[in-house]
Amino acid sequence: METVLLHAMNTSSVDDIQKAAEILKNGGLVALPTETVYGLAANALDEVAVKNIFIAKGRPSDNPLIVHIAEFSDLDGIVSEVTPVAEKCMKAFWPGPFTAVLPKTKKIPTATSGGLDTVAVRMPKNEVARAIIKKAGLPLAAPSANRSGSPSPSTAGHVIDDLMGKIDAIVVSKNCEVGVESTVVSFAVNPPRLLRPGGVTAEQLRQYIPDLVIDAAVLAQPEKGAKVASPGMKYKHYAPSAEVTMVVGDEKAFSKYCNDQNPSLVVGYDEDEKLINSPFVSLGKAGDHKKAAERLFDTLRDVDKKGYKTVIVHAPTTDGMGLAVYNRLIRAAGFKVVQL
Ligand code: TXA
Ligand code: MG
Repeated sequence: METVLLHAMNTSSVDDIQKAAEILKNGGLVALPTETVYGLAANALDEVAVKNIFIAKGRPSDNPLIVHIAEFSDLDGIVSEVTPVAEKCMKAFWPGPFTAVLPKTKKIPTATSGGLDTVAVRMPKNEVARAIIKKAGLPLAAPSANRSGSPSPSTAGHVIDDLMGKIDAIVVSKNCEVGVESTVVSFAVNPPRLLRPGGVTAEQLRQYIPDLVIDAAVLAQPEKGAKVASPGMKYKHYAPSAEVTMVVGDEKAFSKYCNDQNPSLVVGYDEDEKLINSPFVSLGKAGDHKKAAERLFDTLRDVDKKGYKTVIVHAPTTDGMGLAVYNRLIRAAGFKVVQL
């Protein structure tokens, strides 16, 4: 399949935004920028188009998609109920990196919801994404625009690497500023449950949901055969082909461990660098979790491009966006964690 490259740095690229919307209205697949990661979009109400997303990504069909909207009124007909606490969170965090799981209506096809009776909805902040949704006049199902299992795409180049020739078009735009995916919260259970940490922190959520529960799968591997609230949590994810180990410990213990193991690459923070003898890449200053999130997926993709065989990564603390970075790294490591 020929993949058309469209270009939209902002909403003044009206022609290419129009072209993207036309392809979507005709049942095609378009990769587009959002503030979190690039998404692979299709008409969320078109079962055939949505099935093609799963084929292009190589995604397991029981892993449901997030439906992206541009206005609050777009919720009508998609969800059957909005709880008062869900509404408060939507008002606080939309547009932005926050996804609400709510009971779905019959309009949402089984392919979009992965056979669940709920649907995940998000209103992205990225102006190009919202312009395309508005022009198409459709809710858009959009998982991250990577091949299933590999790190999510935070630049247009990452999407081109993964999906060129497999989808109708890619909207080339800026790098994603958040760099990790949205925070997913289920309001279909009481109390509400954090299923995936992301661009909105648990601390921010607790201002509106004091009894928020953090799902056990956020920080650890789900038990074999266990029913997980968010199907995406059970798959090995974000993983380079290299053997990755995540290490929890302070700078001194971490550097001693790395120097004993002598891996082909160490991924850590600025403060680690002077203590490490192996090739080293930094995710930024220790504790600057926003910076680490922004650099994370590009760093993981680079590990493969450069052909490193063994990689040790330094776990961040789990405050603020550190929780999202930790959650992605533990999956990149296939849950291989060393506690020092
Ligand atoms: O930032 C993002 O959320 C990006 C951009 C493109 O918007 N999208 C994204 O989609 O990360 P995806 O498909 O890669 O991840 C969606 C996650 C998966 O872990 C999935 O299992 C979960 O959300 N999910 C979707 N619908 C759900 C539902 N009804 N109940 C529970 N979890 C759900
Ligand atoms: Mg994904």
